[in-house]
Amino acid sequence: MSGRDGDSSPPLLEEDVDPDPLVQFKKWFSEAHASGIAQPDAMTLATAVDEHPSARVVLLKHFDESGFVFFSNYQSQKGREIADNPNVALCFVWLELHRQVRIVGTAARIANNESDAYFVSRPRGAQIAASASPQSEILASRAELESNFARIEQEAGDPALRPSHWGGFRVVPATIEFWQGQPDRLHDRLRYRREAGNWIIERLAP
Ligand SMILES: Cc1cc2nc3c(=O)[nH]c(=O)nc-3n(C[C@H](O)[C@H](O)[C@H](O)COP(=O)(O)O)c2cc1C
Repeated sequence: MSGRDGDSSPPLLEEDVDPDPLVQFKKWFSEAHASGIAQPDAMTLATAVDEHPSARVVLLKHFDESGFVFFSNYQSQKGREIADNPNVALCFVWLELHRQVRIVGTAARIANNESDAYFVSRPRGAQIAASASPQSEILASRAELESNFARIEQEAGDPALRPSHWGGFRVVPATIEFWQGQPDRLHDRLRYRREAGNWIIERLAP
């Protein structure tokens, strides 16, 4: 590969993408997995409250026509911010493929039974940590976290129960943009936006 961005990828043309952005996402997500890049499921989640944005990485655990699902602590900073303002953005970057996907939408808690189903599939250590870590709160020391963990590990049954403050969020997309790097900074950007129940595809200048 030469020094020019994205010069190994074919252009992303309107006629080549699927009319349904979820189908298109599935294709790119599979390609990201197949390419062997590290953690293609890592996505930046941006929230905004009172004109103060904040961003952090979470893992995409599931997606389908109804949206993009990740799991977290409902009492964390992100959890509180989503409760205040459900308008969020997600951003994936797959550098080796010269690709970025940007999603704007609204986040809502998933049903308790869906969170339960995912929680039981997690390793016991992760289950205990969901109760032991008051995510986003100030800790006196690492020892405090470790002693919380040790205590809860003793107390928890087998299997451990999902704490009610931990569960999934689903982001229902309003726009999804696919960015494909191209030579000379003439990158492709195709943005889908929902209008009257249909997806409209528009090309944005790079
Ligand atoms: C690769 C990676 C994956 C992560 N996945 C999650 C996740 O799925 N859920 C989560 O709550 N935090 C995850 N984190 C930690 C978050 O980035 C963040 O530190 C934490 O959720 C607290 O964020 P908040 O204080 O804004 O709520 C991940 C961090 C990294 C670097």
